[in-house]
Amino acid sequence: MTGDPGLQVRTFQDREALSRAAADLFVSLSQSTIAAQGRFAVALSGGSTPKGLYTLLGAAPYREAVPWPRVHLFWSDERCVPQDHPESNYKLAYDAFLSKVSLPSENIHRIRGEEEPGKAARVYEDDLRRFFGGGVPVFDLLLLGAGEDGHTASLFPGSPSLHETTRVALPVYLERPKRDRVTLTLPVLNRAAHVLFLASGRAKADVVSEILEGGNVQRYPAGLVQPVNGDVLWLIDREAAVKLRKPVRT
Ligand code: 6PG
Repeated sequence: MTGDPGLQVRTFQDREALSRAAADLFVSLSQSTIAAQGRFAVALSGGSTPKGLYTLLGAAPYREAVPWPRVHLFWSDERCVPQDHPESNYKLAYDAFLSKVSLPSENIHRIRGEEEPGKAARVYEDDLRRFFGGGVPVFDLLLLGAGEDGHTASLFPGSPSLHETTRVALPVYLERPKRDRVTLTLPVLNRAAHVLFLASGRAKADVVSEILEGGNVQRYPAGLVQPVNGDVLWLIDREAAVKLRKPVRT
């Protein structure tokens, strides 16, 4: 592994087992964090991998185990589309569990994808500052995925946004069909208390191996997530782990 003591990796037979482990972690962390500080601030990731986790959170027994009224949900990034658009990360969470749990609407801190990206980023920053106070937001749990190119949230390789040091959210204007977006910036990702990466499938084997063992972790935005006072846990399935040289904890 990268040699970073704060980084752990666990491998699971398949995406279903990975999702159950992620749901177990979400429940236990929500309960312990709320017991300790009265609230649980989470940034959700988008994409397809977390769908299994989100579906579990919207059904028994997980739905009943989370103290939802004390949970505040944010997003690591969002596509600049309306909230009911099929590509919306908000819609992904809403359909899977937000519509099924007793979460007060004021606890849902949606990125307004329907707005122009620059405005949406500024509005989101205002929301983050109102909730966390000044300074860099500190999430209790930050959920992230990794693209095959090593992007995470909407921080893409070679993007100037990777060098942002003051703003906490930025607009991302993408040339490719993958939509304009709004993303949290690295200073925020690297202040999280607990970062949970979910990666599944053979298509992620190369990037998982490069990031976790490749030695050139700086090439990949997902590899730049190294919280100053937090830990990183990668939950991967066997297919995504197939190129790892060293056995990892299952
Ligand atoms: C997004 C995500 C993005 C995602 C990766 C992995 O909005 O697309 O935030 O960073 O986590 O692209 O996506 P998959 O889970 O679909 O492989």
